[in-house]
Amino acid sequence: ARYKVGYLVGSLAKGSINRQLASALARLAPPELELKEIPIRDLPLYSYDYDADFPAVARTFKKSIADSDAVLFVTPEYNRSIPGALKNAIDWASRPWGENSFARKPSGIIGTSPGSIGTAVAQSHLRGVLCFCNAPLMNTVEAYIQYRPGMIAEDFSVPDEKTAEFLRNYMSEFRVFVERVLTVLPRAG
Ligand code: FNR
Repeated sequence: ARYKVGYLVGSLAKGSINRQLASALARLAPPELELKEIPIRDLPLYSYDYDADFPAVARTFKKSIADSDAVLFVTPEYNRSIPGALKNAIDWASRPWGENSFARKPSGIIGTSPGSIGTAVAQSHLRGVLCFCNAPLMNTVEAYIQYRPGMIAEDFSVPDEKTAEFLRNYMSEFRVFVERVLTVLPRAG
């Protein structure tokens, strides 16, 4: 694989449909992309009191982002916004001041919910947050996925070919986007 894509799942739920979606995307992604989850579950609630001495879990988290060529956010919508756990993870990654992990990091947003607008409002909020964090964001293709039971099989395949093709195309466009950003803004080192 040419590009390491670290993905953040905005849900801490065991049965998260967004984590299932992420696993399905890993299967449908072009061979140039290697997807791996960057866990957010064990991060304590952030405060700037930690800035002088980040705990090991937060250092590992920031290193995982630094080691990724790109970041993919796969998130549910909670109360028409970003889940608190995800916002907390972003706050950790953005600090301490001057060490923002998202600066110049090509990023994409996708999510699923049973509701018909498929996380559109949460994605819109997340876009604003990541813009402030200076993350170059893929603007098109957008992907608002309405979840239906059986959409993702137990082996994380996507039985409906139209849905599979849509997700495959999303990942293929993401590869093009990542490549373009890294050409203009090469990685440090
Ligand atoms: C939800 N859900 C939800 N769905 C939606 O489309 N818009 C919303 O604003 C909300 N709000 C909301 C708040 C809270 C606190 C919960 C727990 C749930 C439903 C949500 O889409 C559903 O639970 C999904 O299964 C969440 O995705 P994960 O966590 O399974 O990946």
